Amino acid sequence: MSVIKEEEYKKRRDKVAKRMSKNSVAIIFSATYKVRSNDTNYPFRQNSNFYYLTGFKEDNSILVLIKKNKKYKSILFINKKNKKEEMWNGKRLGVLKAKKRFLIDEIHISDKFQKKVSKYLEFKKNLYFDFKLDNSQTKLFEKIAKKINIHKNIALIIEKMRLIKSDSEIKLIKKAIDITKKAHHRLMKLDKIGKNEYELLSNIEHTFKSHGAYNDAYTSIVASGNSANTLHYIDNNKPLVNGELILIDAGCEYEYYASDITRTIAVNKQLSKAQRDIYELVLSVEKTIINMVKPNVKRSELHKKSEELLVKGMIRLGILKGNYKKIIKKQIHKKYYPHGIGHWLGLDVHDECPYKDENGAEIALKEGMVLTIEPGIYIDKYDENVPKKYRGIGIRIEDDILVTKDGNKNLSSAIKKEVIDLQS
Ligand code: GLY
Ligand code: MN
Ligand code: MN
Repeated sequence: MSVIKEEEYKKRRDKVAKRMSKNSVAIIFSATYKVRSNDTNYPFRQNSNFYYLTGFKEDNSILVLIKKNKKYKSILFINKKNKKEEMWNGKRLGVLKAKKRFLIDEIHISDKFQKKVSKYLEFKKNLYFDFKLDNSQTKLFEKIAKKINIHKNIALIIEKMRLIKSDSEIKLIKKAIDITKKAHHRLMKLDKIGKNEYELLSNIEHTFKSHGAYNDAYTSIVASGNSANTLHYIDNNKPLVNGELILIDAGCEYEYYASDITRTIAVNKQLSKAQRDIYELVLSVEKTIINMVKPNVKRSELHKKSEELLVKGMIRLGILKGNYKKIIKKQIHKKYYPHGIGHWLGLDVHDECPYKDENGAEIALKEGMVLTIEPGIYIDKYDENVPKKYRGIGIRIEDDILVTKDGNKNLSSAIKKEVIDLQS
């Protein structure tokens, strides 16, 4: 049973319905299985918007909200109980139990959807659905969609709501971070000399899974040495070299909520002077930016400040040469700091919530939002423009931050990142 109460899911549906126009219908599909190869599938992961409104983890399900005037009706279509199917592929909740569990007006088996949907659409003006359908859903949907002229994207309503996390969502994010902390701390303690990146990865996965986080929130990155300069390095299969750093970007998902944490540690626990120069710069920038997080501040302001501080620091270290203003104007630093300062975090690691409002203006931070702060510096091994001692160093430090009423709370502050802790 889910940790978030049925009442909360109902409140979310109420809120969506309230924002729908009069005489409209919303149709929201679950995820479908994706083929990995031949007759094996990827592990099933529910669609986040569907999950946000139902907390239901089965495939082949459809949520329908029908709004007449001010009132609305909710209907959920789910898999039919089927002994043979369930023997092969796992138990299904079934209509009887679903009626007891969900605070939803009607529950039907999915086979009945096609027949019933025409009735729902009669005399309706607007049809809401998530414009991101997969292929099989598009086919099913084409006929339905023709019956109503005005199409609206329900995702825009749901994803705006997802921006502000409830207390129960924050609890789950904290739980995910707590498990992730165990994995990062395990790697810090581990004797890494003579090991391979994949052995570190297996420690991460063992920690996640043995604490009930059976999915990663994203593919873990265990990037030693120069591989840290490949931002999405996921090969994770190189022998570790004594004297090099390892950038570890790994976060589990717990009950559908993500954590997203990066730590950069040394194979032999000791940072060289050059590694430390860059590490301390990135760490101080990360701390300064985290301190800036509070309501009404914009993410672009945080990013701009992180660029300013990283550029000034890189000029000081001789990594960037020349005039500060010119570097910023020509964006020369993008070579070493190519990504943004952070992103929303929630049901998805890059939580699918808007960054701009309906008028195209940037959305400022508000209490209850969760975002990552993750500055980094990446210097390729063959970059001859940079002092030799810095070449091949890639460092990112990433934490998960909750915006509070008058500031912020670093939800991952318990995960070590001080040089003195990494070296002990
Ligand atoms: N782990 C993905 C990211 O940091 O955005
Ligand atoms: Mn991130
Ligand atoms: Mn990350």
